[in-house]
Amino acid sequence: MVCYNKKEYTPPFAMGTTIDERCDNSLEKYVINGGKPLTGEVVISGAKNVAVAMIPAALLSDTPCVLENVPDISDVRIMIHMLKKMNVDVYYKEPGVLYIDSTKMNTTKVPYELATKMRASYYFLGALLGKYNEAEVALPGGCHLGNRPIDQHLKGFEALGVQTEVKAGAIVAKSNALTGAPVFFDQVSVGATINVMLCACKAKGTTIIENVAKEPHIVDVANFLNSMGAKIKGAGTDTIKIVGVKELKGSTYSIIPDQIEAGTYMMMAAATKGDVVIKNVIPRHLDCLTAKLNEMGIGVEEGDDFIRVFYKKRPKKTMVKTLPYPGFPTDMQPLIATLLCVSEGTSTVTETIWDSRFKYTEELKKMGADIKVSGNMAMITGVDELSPAPLKATDLRAGAAMVIAGLMARGTTEIYDIFHVERGYENIVQKIKGMGGNIEKIETED
Ligand code: EPU
Repeated sequence: MVCYNKKEYTPPFAMGTTIDERCDNSLEKYVINGGKPLTGEVVISGAKNVAVAMIPAALLSDTPCVLENVPDISDVRIMIHMLKKMNVDVYYKEPGVLYIDSTKMNTTKVPYELATKMRASYYFLGALLGKYNEAEVALPGGCHLGNRPIDQHLKGFEALGVQTEVKAGAIVAKSNALTGAPVFFDQVSVGATINVMLCACKAKGTTIIENVAKEPHIVDVANFLNSMGAKIKGAGTDTIKIVGVKELKGSTYSIIPDQIEAGTYMMMAAATKGDVVIKNVIPRHLDCLTAKLNEMGIGVEEGDDFIRVFYKKRPKKTMVKTLPYPGFPTDMQPLIATLLCVSEGTSTVTETIWDSRFKYTEELKKMGADIKVSGNMAMITGVDELSPAPLKATDLRAGAAMVIAGLMARGTTEIYDIFHVERGYENIVQKIKGMGGNIEKIETED
């Protein structure tokens, strides 16, 4: 399913376009006039965290791949730019449908500057190792959520016979012969699970990875690799078994809907006292959010591929603890916290995945939120309403939380540093406008 409004679509990287023009929103801000319930429908785009893994995964193929339902977000644009610089033939056949032909790729070095702009550039390590037995990728960037080690990725590669070292800010990885092996992760990691899977697909023999992440993204990437000829079993469980193959062939594959984007609009509907049908979702992926909203007294109805969220009365307090899938997603933590700012009583939010994911609470406090953070826990006592204030998006999901806060507060809220938000939400302004929200993206004067 393609989720573009075709009229407003501009192809990324038309001839002569530079990366700064297309991937940098640092001079723009959102201006929101809040206090109005959102109503109607919103259509969810392809999953960001799947797209940024599948684009490097496509390089493993010896023939062209086509990815469908690719979200047009700046992280994807940056990745496309990286591919172009590596002499990969990559272009949109139509909105959301990305053609990737790596037969003329002429390097195992990922452009340094671009790789530092995002976290997911680490997937080039697994993909290039799988394809060429070597890779050089800058240490990854991305949202500042505290310590973000990649030791488990490296541990997995090393088990498969890869030598790694850090040289001039980049990870340099090489193997004489990739060989399947048992890998046991000390920490459940989405990135390490996918990265080792990418590398092991072409290793000689069998790799068994234990204590892996079970997120829907893992299953989707494994399905894509299997559609190219890989032999991966167990994705979605604690153990993944991969029998290496000599070659992978191109395939056409459609990315699953973004569960975090869907969750964001679920929270937005509840927080603005609205009534919204969120379309193109896989409701099973949203079970823990649905359960939490039900528990808080928000109306939720599910269909085969949609969820309706509607306000009934002031939400009740709750307890949230982030956990790996199928637990409550850390990426939804700032979003539900924003709803809790106006819920009844005192709620607690405990973050167990990232050690610094409460920076956004300082911004919400500027709007009158009553939040006390101590270590990895926030205590949030609901206030009657939030009031508008100038805000700074501190990271991707924090920025989305501020958009929700702005839509709740009666009056004008301005949000700066929106490049964070635009890294991961396709057409957020148009989608909110489509539900009756009053939001504009404009150039900042200063
Ligand atoms: N960890 C290690 N060693 C590693 C890897 C991870 O100790 O080698 C730890 C991390 O420090 C963290 C935990 O393991 O405490 C989980 O990290 P994980 O590796 O699962 O995170 P990631 O793969 O880097 C992805 C998403 C994040 C999301 C996390 C958790 C992508 C590109 N990013 O990151 O998404 O928060 O999984 O679900 O897939 C976002 O979309 O806003 C975002 C930050």
